[in-house]
Amino acid sequence: MPTILGLSGSLRKASFNAGLLRAARDVAPDGTSIEIGEIHDVPLYDADDEKANGLPEAVKRLQSRLDAADALLMVSPEYNKSIPGVFKNTIDWMSRGDGLKYFTGKPVMLIGASPSGFGTILGQNAWLPVLRTLRTRLWTGGQLMVSGAGDKFDEDGNLTDGETRDQLRKLIAEFVKTL
Ligand SMILES: Cc1cc2nc3c(=O)[nH]c(=O)nc-3n(C[C@H](O)[C@H](O)[C@H](O)COP(=O)(O)O)c2cc1C
Repeated sequence: MPTILGLSGSLRKASFNAGLLRAARDVAPDGTSIEIGEIHDVPLYDADDEKANGLPEAVKRLQSRLDAADALLMVSPEYNKSIPGVFKNTIDWMSRGDGLKYFTGKPVMLIGASPSGFGTILGQNAWLPVLRTLRTRLWTGGQLMVSGAGDKFDEDGNLTDGETRDQLRKLIAEFVKTL
């Protein structure tokens, strides 16, 4: 049974991206488990802190969940046409210590949602050098960039749009077939 670690790159309570991740968990094929990881407790990366105290507990937890998972699902907002700092900060911390070992060869599915008309296309592109540097295996068999998110999620950030849900279901099923 494949296990996928799912991370949303937003700290917002009613986040579209966190909602998209929950929807992904709900539509995953039978026998596939998408386990949602927590990035709220990850501090800002500080090399002095790392030298003095090692990796924070929140980072170690994420690393061990990534190690145990068959794949990583990243659901990323787009900030200023690029990667949101909080998400990059988390991945940077996770890459420290033995981190590269956990990313190397790991299948990654990358999706995102935005209220704009372009649905995180540039944000997703901005992740490419990071995922390559971490030696992940980015899945390129399909893409999901949810645009106009304001009309597709409710006020709590739950996905309400049936078409997007169907696209997500098909995409995850395709991804899972490769695991
Ligand atoms: C600093 C900042 C920069 C942003 N830049 C973009 C952008 O370049 N493209 C875009 O589509 N949305 C941009 N947005 C809007 C986000 O897509 C929107 O806030 C979205 O709700 C964030 O995702 P979330 O709902 O998961 O928190 C930006 C928002 C912030 C706070």
